[in-house]
Amino acid sequence: MPLLESAAKLFRLVYILCWDLSLTLVNLVTPSLKPGRIVPHESPGAGGKWPEFVPPKEGDSRCACPMLNALANHGILPHDGRNIRFTELTQTVRTSYNFASTFCVFVPRYAADLLLKNYKTDTFDLAELSQHNGIEHDASLTRQDAEYDPDQSRVHLPFVNALLACASGKDRAGHVRLTPADVSRYSSTRRAAARATNPAFTLSRTHKMFGSSNSSTLLTILGGRVADVEVFLKEERIPAGWEPRAAHRMGLTMLAFQRTVLKVECAIDEGAVLSEGDAE
Ligand code: HEM
Ligand SMILES: *[C@@H]1O[C@H](CO)[C@@H](O)[C@H](O)[C@H]1NC(C)=O
Repeated sequence: MPLLESAAKLFRLVYILCWDLSLTLVNLVTPSLKPGRIVPHESPGAGGKWPEFVPPKEGDSRCACPMLNALANHGILPHDGRNIRFTELTQTVRTSYNFASTFCVFVPRYAADLLLKNYKTDTFDLAELSQHNGIEHDASLTRQDAEYDPDQSRVHLPFVNALLACASGKDRAGHVRLTPADVSRYSSTRRAAARATNPAFTLSRTHKMFGSSNSSTLLTILGGRVADVEVFLKEERIPAGWEPRAAHRMGLTMLAFQRTVLKVECAIDEGAVLSEGDAE
C-alpha cells in the first residue's frame, strides 16, 4: 500500500478512536435514554413500532448477518437487499440498534475497504458481505461453515437452538438471559467442532475477535434476552415493541462494547470442550 494511503488510514483510525473516547465520556456523564425513547422519534421503530415484516422473496439479496437481514425484512434497508449505500447502512444501524456513530461509520467503512469500494459513493448488495474470509468466517454461531453451506444467508436452526439452550441467566424482570459465559461456552463448542470436522477450517485471530464481537451484540444490543434473540436469529424479524437494550445517550461506543467482547473472547476455551468430551 502506498505510504500516503497508509498514513491516511492510520490518521482515520486515530481520529475515530478519539471521537469514540469522547462519546464514551459523554455517555458517562449524561443520563441514559428512557425506555420507549431509544429509537429517535422520527426513525422507523420509534416507540417500538417497526415497519411491517415481509420475509425475503426469491431473488432478494441477504447475508450472513441476521441483524442486517432483519433491517431489510422490515424495509428499513431496501427489501431486495440491493444497491445499498454504505452511508445508508451507517444511518440505519445508528437509529435502529443504538450503536454509537463511531461504530456505525467504522464497520461499514471496513466493509467498503474489503469490497474495494468507496464508502461515500458506492453501493453494495447484502450478499456481498458474505465473502468468505473477507468478513464472513468459519465457526459462526448461526451459520454452517461455508464449506458445508455456500449460502451464508441461511440460518442453521440447530446451532441457534443449541445457543439458546445455553442460557443460564435471568435478569431482574425475570427474562431468561444469555450471559457472557454462556456465549463463550457455546463459541468454544462451535470452534472445537468446526476445527475437528471441517477440512477447510480457518479462523484467524482477527476473525476470532470479529466472531466474539458479533455474538456480543446479542448480550449488549439485545440484552441477552432469549425470547428476543430467538425471534431475531430464527426469523430475522424485529419483535413488535422491541427496542435496543443499550440505552446510552450517544449509543454503544466501540470502547464500551470492547469490554463485553473481551470478556467473551478471553473466556473461550476449546480445550475445555475437548476434555469434557473425553470425560463422557
Ligand atoms: C454495521 C454493519 C454490519 C456489518 C457489515 C455486519 C457484517 C456481518 C457479517 C459479515 C457477519 C457474518 C460473520 C460470520 O461469518 O459469522 C455478521 C454476523 C453477525 N452480526 Fe453483523 N454486521 C453489521 C452490523 C451488525 C449489528 C448492528 C448487529 C447487532 C445489532 C450485528 C450482529 C451480528 C450477529 C449476531 C451475527 C451472527 C454471528 C454468528 O453467526 O456467529 N451485526 N455480521
Ligand atoms: C461482525 O463481524 C464482521 C467481520 O466478520 C465485522 O466487520 C463486524 O464489525 C461485526 N459486527 C459487529 C456488530 O460486531
